[in-house]
Amino acid sequence: MRVLGIETSCDDTGIAIFDSEEGLLAHAVHSQTITHLPYGGVVPELASRDHSLKLLPLLKTVLQNANVPASSLSGIAYTAGPGLIGALLVGAAFAKTLGYAWGIPTVGVHHMEGHLLAPMLENPAPEFPFVALLVSGGHTLLVEVDGVGQYKLLGESLDDAAGEAFDKIAKQLGLPYPGGPALAALAEQGTPNRFAFPRPLCDRPGLDFSFSGLKTFTLNTLRSTAQSTQDKADVAWGFQDAVVDTLLIKCKRALKSTGLNRLVVAGGVGANQQLRIKLKTLTAEFNTNIYYPRLEFCTDNGAMIAYAGYQRLRMRDLNADFDLDIAVHPRWPMDALPSPGASRHPLP
Ligand code: KG4
Ligand code: ZN
Repeated sequence: MRVLGIETSCDDTGIAIFDSEEGLLAHAVHSQTITHLPYGGVVPELASRDHSLKLLPLLKTVLQNANVPASSLSGIAYTAGPGLIGALLVGAAFAKTLGYAWGIPTVGVHHMEGHLLAPMLENPAPEFPFVALLVSGGHTLLVEVDGVGQYKLLGESLDDAAGEAFDKIAKQLGLPYPGGPALAALAEQGTPNRFAFPRPLCDRPGLDFSFSGLKTFTLNTLRSTAQSTQDKADVAWGFQDAVVDTLLIKCKRALKSTGLNRLVVAGGVGANQQLRIKLKTLTAEFNTNIYYPRLEFCTDNGAMIAYAGYQRLRMRDLNADFDLDIAVHPRWPMDALPSPGASRHPLP
């Protein structure tokens, strides 16, 4: 089965082709950083317009690089949510149009399922079951994964996502959008442990997260200094350390409570080097094998959507069809996704 993947949920346009026999054939991402840079964050209307401009050229590039004809594709996967509604609609309309023209089914993929399955494109790929820490700009989730579509939500952020907190603090530190990587770079110049930051929700049982209070604490700490470059770097160090430590503590708990020793880490914040260094301690402590997507697939891309779409088409997901109705879900709880066997749809 050969599947085209289309990602347009936020500020990256991604296209890829995954083949069940040959693996990933080609992929390309267009980042909208330059478009949104002057505004310090993503402007939804600009994001939609840019997706609609870039999808067709990217598709041509990917088909060319894969060196396969469009007629060899068996299905099209697109991100149906969660995300910015306009951006999602552009991708969905593009996918439905191609599906109609080429006479092949389309499937609406959950963006976080794409992130979750991204490490499956690597070698070695994780085996089921595993615990997944999904840390992106919109979500912070701990999920027990027994198979594709078999997801038990263990914990989630009650307010800001980890990436969102990185981005907001970065903005206050005067760093350019996108803030996460810029904050991580500044933190490298920081003095370790100059400030004592809290580890939110770690003093009580449970696997939920909350980064909003930490954000306020960080801003108050910043304001209590002269805000020199070194002060900012020290605050960035303390903030990053607190987020990373909190994620580590909750991962430990999740591994303990599930009895599993495989951990998948995905989503944009999964690219954070300090997080990777700290999580390594789990290998010695719990004999945990940790799996990441390659760095470029931590952030948004079409490859993860093509792969998740392949899995969904393979299990005849209820959302896979020839319909021309364009339905997207800006909010879409991940545990509402159909599991194998629960949904059968008459595809050829
Ligand atoms: O998964 P992603 O590309 O998009 C969403 O689905 O949201 O994640 C983007 C998020 C942003 O908040 C970005 O600042 C953060 O991931 N991020 C990082 C790093 N690289 C990206 N945060 C911390 N350290 C990084 N190295
Ligand atoms: Zn994402």
